[in-house]
Amino acid sequence: MGHNLFTKQTIRDINVKDKTVLLRADYNVPLTKTDGKIADDYRIQQSLPTVKYLLDQGAKVVICSHLGRPAGPGDSANSLVPVAQRLSNLLHAEVLFAPDCVGEQAQQTVAQLKQGQVALLENLRFHPEEEKNDPEFARQLASLADVFVQDGFGVVHRAHASTEGVTHYLPSVAGFLLEKEVDTITGVMEDPKRPLMTVVGGAKIADKIEILHRFIKIADFVAIGGAMANTFLKAHGLDVAASLYDKEELGVASDIMHEAEQEAKKRKFVFYIPQDGVVATKVDKTAPTRIVDWSAHVIADIESYPKRAAHSTAQVEAHEMILDIGPFTGAFIAGAIQNMQTVVWNGTMGVAEVDGLQGPVGPFAHGTDLVMEAMLGQFGNKPFSVVGGGDTTAYVQSRKLTTAFDHVSTGGGASLELMGGRKLPGVEALVDKGSTK
Ligand code: 3PG
Repeated sequence: MGHNLFTKQTIRDINVKDKTVLLRADYNVPLTKTDGKIADDYRIQQSLPTVKYLLDQGAKVVICSHLGRPAGPGDSANSLVPVAQRLSNLLHAEVLFAPDCVGEQAQQTVAQLKQGQVALLENLRFHPEEEKNDPEFARQLASLADVFVQDGFGVVHRAHASTEGVTHYLPSVAGFLLEKEVDTITGVMEDPKRPLMTVVGGAKIADKIEILHRFIKIADFVAIGGAMANTFLKAHGLDVAASLYDKEELGVASDIMHEAEQEAKKRKFVFYIPQDGVVATKVDKTAPTRIVDWSAHVIADIESYPKRAAHSTAQVEAHEMILDIGPFTGAFIAGAIQNMQTVVWNGTMGVAEVDGLQGPVGPFAHGTDLVMEAMLGQFGNKPFSVVGGGDTTAYVQSRKLTTAFDHVSTGGGASLELMGGRKLPGVEALVDKGSTK
């Protein structure tokens, strides 16, 4: 894979000694519903190389971020206080906290900062001006520092005051995380080691239309799973009974399958939708599960031989929902992965958020685990593996497998937009490599 696909200046290109740096991070971390504790600190962890580098270079580091989508100021459920504590633990250093991201409180906190120290500003979105990309708000933020560093990859698809507006007032360069994310994702999209496969799952086709179009053009193999597979199956003519699917997306699903068919006429290309599934009548630990093989009926035919298999073995019955890919589908995708050099994975293959639901094929998420094991080389071949999307990252984190993949993106929407071929406003706004600005 080629390198240096990242065309913007980074913190390596500037001198930050004795400077105050405004660092935009994406600390929009999931909090537990019960006690508001940080459920997953992957985004904080991934920001540390940039923070540490800036501190080592003798900068004062002022970090700003959003958290959630707060209704307005004082929405304590979206305060960054827990993030300041976690950051302090991870850095083994004091982190000053400013209860507002602009104005007197922010200025006072920054004034107290010494060289090699960090301050975190309260949630940017407590000010509606942030999302409106208000120039005056951006100017106030910028007035806190000498240099702006963008490292919040997860939010660079937004043109907000802290991602776009601020760059009009300060020299603006990228941090290491942003560089790594853009470089790796652009690399697999533009210059992958082939064969290239993508495994796309999750609930909604709507979020993935752009990447599906793009992968149909560039990948050798596209495998579909998750609830969005139900929409494809329905559009293909299968009775998915009570399964979750998207009525409004049936046309889009048909168009995508048609596009894939056309592509397969031009070159060696496979677009694969599940041929069997695990079904149950409810998404709950106690619900019995069974396998429905709507395509080849192989297991059922063997099991009932010499009699004919019961109709239900090939049919999702009323009240049943497809909740995971079945064993054939899992094995087929895992088998295809054996031939790949690069696999990009976005979206789980089935219900993954319900723990320990037992059935004949084990808990749900069995399909996802099988595909994940294949990607991680447990059956032999270990392709270069890239994981994108918020839910998928959270799933990989919950299995403590983040470091086993080559790249697990911190971006949800941002990684999808980048993979879809869109320009990211928060990246575009940074100073170009080689520029003397
Ligand atoms: C994310 O979690 O995808 C980013 O932090 C962006 O958040 P947003 O979708 O609320 O803008």
